[in-house]
Amino acid sequence: MHPLFDLNGKTALVTGSSRGLGFSFAQGLAEAGANVILNGTHEERLFRSVSDMQTKGFHVDGFVFDVANEVSVMKAFTEMDEKGIQIDILINNAGIQYRKPMVELELENWQKVIDTNLTSAFLVSREAAKRMIARGQGGKVINIGSLTSQAARATVAPYTAAKGGIRMLTKAMAAEWGQYNIQANAIGPGYIITDMNTALVEDEQFDQWVKNSNPTRRWGLPEELAGTVIYLSSSASDYVNGQMIFVDGGWLAVL
Ligand SMILES: NC(=O)c1ccc[n+]([C@@H]2O[C@H](COP(=O)([O-])OP(=O)(O)OC[C@H]3O[C@@H](n4cnc5c(N)ncnc54)[C@H](OP(=O)(O)O)[C@@H]3O)[C@@H](O)[C@H]2O)c1
Repeated sequence: MHPLFDLNGKTALVTGSSRGLGFSFAQGLAEAGANVILNGTHEERLFRSVSDMQTKGFHVDGFVFDVANEVSVMKAFTEMDEKGIQIDILINNAGIQYRKPMVELELENWQKVIDTNLTSAFLVSREAAKRMIARGQGGKVINIGSLTSQAARATVAPYTAAKGGIRMLTKAMAAEWGQYNIQANAIGPGYIITDMNTALVEDEQFDQWVKNSNPTRRWGLPEELAGTVIYLSSSASDYVNGQMIFVDGGWLAVL
């Protein structure tokens, strides 16, 4: 491994990592040498994923907490403090989708999507960055956006607003924490095959739209994001700050 990408001795917290992209990010970071903390809200699913990775010989721990709930987030960080866990790399990945035309959308569901996809990144990063600053050894924050961080699509207004917010929150983090050698960047995945998209993959019309809309002519796979996550988590990206990298097969590059 090139030393610039070596994550040995680092600890990474990946939110929403019991499955999907988060689990794949956690595997990639562990393969690059990091100790990894997995997170989710369903305890059984989370610890199944923890033991799956432990069986492969990785250093993994799991913390059940709701990223959208301030009390839950703060409790988890207090528990990590008590266990002597110090986070060097934070991946704000947990997210949900909710599809409905805006004129029919209930405030409660708007709020839930905003809280889980955007407010969560503020809550978890605040706790992680506070500790990184106190330790004085820098750190990495990687926020997971979406194609909707740049372009809108009907029926997903709160998701679009949240992911657009993620792009600017990343810049706000870079503006405040760069002086502490903490780099904050974002990744915008294209359409990737995970549980979140099962219904869309199975919908023939949507599937064709995905395949026809981007130059690579196919859905992405979770493991195709691992390289970008490792890069942004490692010293290879120490002078990259406040950026968003789209990993989308070229989708946003074309009309
Ligand atoms: N898949 C795509 O095509 C795609 C494209 C662009 C962006 N993204 C973004 O990538 C991220 C991951 O998406 P995915 O497709 O991997 O989703 P997924 O398969 O539905 O997995 C979501 C993960 O987030 C966790 N989670 C959900 N709500 C949570 C909460 N309140 N607190 C803690 N954990 C929570 C889930 O665990 P529990 O079930 O245990 O809560 C699960 O581990 C999201 O931010 C999504 O918006 C995905």
